[in-house]
Amino acid sequence: MKKAITPGTFDPITYGHLDVIMRASQLFDNVVVAVAASPGKNPLFTLDERVELARQATAHIENVEVKPFSGLLVDFASECEATALVKGLRAITDFEYEFQMAALNYHLKQSLETLFIMSPPEYMYLSSSIVRELASLGASVDDFVPPVVADALKQKFANR
Ligand code: PNS
Repeated sequence: MKKAITPGTFDPITYGHLDVIMRASQLFDNVVVAVAASPGKNPLFTLDERVELARQATAHIENVEVKPFSGLLVDFASECEATALVKGLRAITDFEYEFQMAALNYHLKQSLETLFIMSPPEYMYLSSSIVRELASLGASVDDFVPPVVADALKQKFANR
């Protein structure tokens, strides 16, 4: 049974994330979407909210489960018995940061492979931060996130 982990802050989950998760789910028997607490990033959505949105957005993919984690990613991967980390790569700007994380994770746990999936052109520019900014300014984000996330963003900014 081959299991992969797709980690991120998912603040909130976007169609770009879903593309990576979907493709990972076709390559592995099981995929754990690992939602990082990431307190240092001061997320817009609470950890519980991010997990719930990711669960709803991936409910249609049978071999995917969503779990929160805090602490080291490599430790959580061991806990899940995952043998690979799968991450999306967008523009070249992602590379430096992702390269650094992959090298660090390799140092911490050499048996855990990091695999990158190239984002398709339509998601190359898409990020959670862009989505948050658009939503905060009242623009539609319907092309970038599932309806449940678009509704959650509307509510979040209506209450501010
Ligand atoms: O979506 P993000 O915010 O770019 O994801 C970054 C994430 C959560 C994958 C990364 O910050 C992470 O792995 N955090 C867990 C703590 C950890 O293991 N840090 C050392 C690895 S670089």
